[in-house]
Amino acid sequence: MRTAAEVKSCCAAAYCSPAAAFLLGESLHPGGTALTRRLADVVGMRSGQRILDVASGRGTTALLLSRKYAVAVDGVDLSDASVRQATAAAQQAGLADRIAFHLADAEHLPFPDGTFDALMCECSWCLFPDKAQAAAEFARVVRPGGHLGISDLT
Ligand SMILES: C[S@@+](CC[C@H](N)C(=O)[O-])C[C@H]1O[C@@H](n2cnc3c(N)ncnc32)[C@H](O)[C@@H]1O
Repeated sequence: MRTAAEVKSCCAAAYCSPAAAFLLGESLHPGGTALTRRLADVVGMRSGQRILDVASGRGTTALLLSRKYAVAVDGVDLSDASVRQATAAAQQAGLADRIAFHLADAEHLPFPDGTFDALMCECSWCLFPDKAQAAAEFARVVRPGGHLGISDLT
């Protein structure tokens, strides 16, 4: 029987591997960037907002949101390699002033209450062992009246 910490660390390692990039492509979720744009529209994303992308992977979603919607994005991911890769991608794209990636667990978000206008979480909710804790954290860091957008496999 694996502990929650072992499940998390195994999962973070799998998704930053070259094999995952080869098999899953640019976005690490079914539906790709088209589904990301749909989710952003569902949460009513608007220019100037501050957005959190939970389990930000290689940073594809954060870059897309920053470019298309002119928002500031923080991304968190449990994989150090993914955070480094995403940070490099933001720097290369000239978006480092609007996008920051952090090494953090979705179940323990390193932000004060009500920091974000909206939160996106794509194809990752299914991976969190303690969903009640993750849900409480999502609700805590989004401002009252803000939006949560979650897409996942069912
Ligand atoms: C299927 S990938 C999705 C990545 C990204 N959201 C996307 O759609 O391109 C799952 C991501 O969740 C991250 N992850 C898994 N468990 C996590 C946790 N507890 N907290 C933060 N990130 C986590 C993995 O490191 C991986 O980058």
